[in-house]
Amino acid sequence: MAKEQTNVLILGSGGREHALGWKLKQSSRVGKLYFAPGNGGTAQIGENLPMDPSTVTTKLVDEIDYFCRHNGVSMVVIGPEDPLAGGLADRLAAPGRHVFGPVAAGARLEADKAYAKEMMRACSVPTADSKTFTNYESACAYAEARETPVVVKAAGLAKGKGAIVTSTTEEALAALKLIMDDRAFGEAGDKVVVEERLIGQEVSILALVDGRNIFVLDPSQDHKQVGEGDTGNNTGGMGVYTPTPLVNEELMEEINREVLVPTVDAMRRDDIDFKGVLYAGLMLTAGGIKVLEYNTRFGDPETQPLMMRLKGDLYDIFVACCEGTLDQVELSFDKRVCICVVMCSGGYPDVYEKGKEIKGIKAAEEGSHGEVKVFHAGTKLKKDGTLVTNGGRVLNVCAFGKTLKEAQERANQACEKIEFEGAFFRRDIGFRVM
Ligand code: AMP
Ligand code: GLY
Repeated sequence: MAKEQTNVLILGSGGREHALGWKLKQSSRVGKLYFAPGNGGTAQIGENLPMDPSTVTTKLVDEIDYFCRHNGVSMVVIGPEDPLAGGLADRLAAPGRHVFGPVAAGARLEADKAYAKEMMRACSVPTADSKTFTNYESACAYAEARETPVVVKAAGLAKGKGAIVTSTTEEALAALKLIMDDRAFGEAGDKVVVEERLIGQEVSILALVDGRNIFVLDPSQDHKQVGEGDTGNNTGGMGVYTPTPLVNEELMEEINREVLVPTVDAMRRDDIDFKGVLYAGLMLTAGGIKVLEYNTRFGDPETQPLMMRLKGDLYDIFVACCEGTLDQVELSFDKRVCICVVMCSGGYPDVYEKGKEIKGIKAAEEGSHGEVKVFHAGTKLKKDGTLVTNGGRVLNVCAFGKTLKEAQERANQACEKIEFEGAFFRRDIGFRVM
């Protein structure tokens, strides 16, 4: 007998959410998809709801709860960190409903870097030496006394902008002033972590966790800087590829043993039922692996190529995560490399304009037999059917290849076919291992 279908609500509006929806839609168990608030791409595979999930209020919780009950939604997938940190997963829990994403106590690993550091220290997870401050003068005195460069981090959520990498004492003091005195990130800067600056290549390790079992997804490498050769300002991510040869099987085992397992165990000991994605941002240093940060959600843009490569039914995988049966589902990856190149609005990550008409997505995908796929991030579908830009990171152009080089060429060629005023992208995604 065919299993019953259910509708699914995905919260968020990025390429990550479009990719998760695209993959969920392939499941025979999934009926209709709803997105809140979604983007121009999600509007083409489901229905966008005019809801902003970033601040968790009783009104928001009631609205989502009511919507789910009246629209046959038995699964809610929470994409971004703010609602997780605000306790949305805790508050949406209801009999017969699967909520994918950790409770607030688990999301604290991302939302409070000082807590994450304490946790790492307590369970001997390798990380940079650091000290936490709430007092501005003490933080400055510490930074002045250090003889090697430091990274200054606002402990709270700061939209990925709260870590300032410095080279001199003057820069460190300026960073402390910005966060603690000017309060550039508001209360996210009430606590500050000052840590040793490490050197090495960065990799993203995402793992599915069901409270007990851990399934590690293939490793990826993200390029955060706006300019080719990893130069210029940091952005939300200019491109990513997976798998990365920087992490071989042996290193992956070490990461599992030294980082993921002790972290999940520590949460269990603290009675935190962590269900969702545990994402460790690592640096591969001369002194071994070091955790730079934890995230407690799918990475963006890491998720886009990971969904392209993931084999198996994402709905079943999410149910297994929620029910603690991750050890019983089929999970594997396509052997090919997949790359994601981010197309941005002119001026990003500083000021940029919105509302520019986008053309050529169909041409970019056409004839590729599924080897090229364009996910939407900052786009909007207007009432008259035109697609326009609506953010700094506009499109996530993903392509498969037998080799990284082939995938890169294919993605770059696809980007060339897409047009909007001011569009730019990095042609060198993956260069660090090529
Ligand atoms: P985080 O938000 O903690 O991941 O930091 C953002 C970015 O800052 C990372 O992706 C790194 O590029 C950089 N970063 C963070 N911590 C360090 C560190 N201890 N040493 C060098 N770079 C770092
Ligand atoms: N790709 C980095 C992040 O999602 O935080």
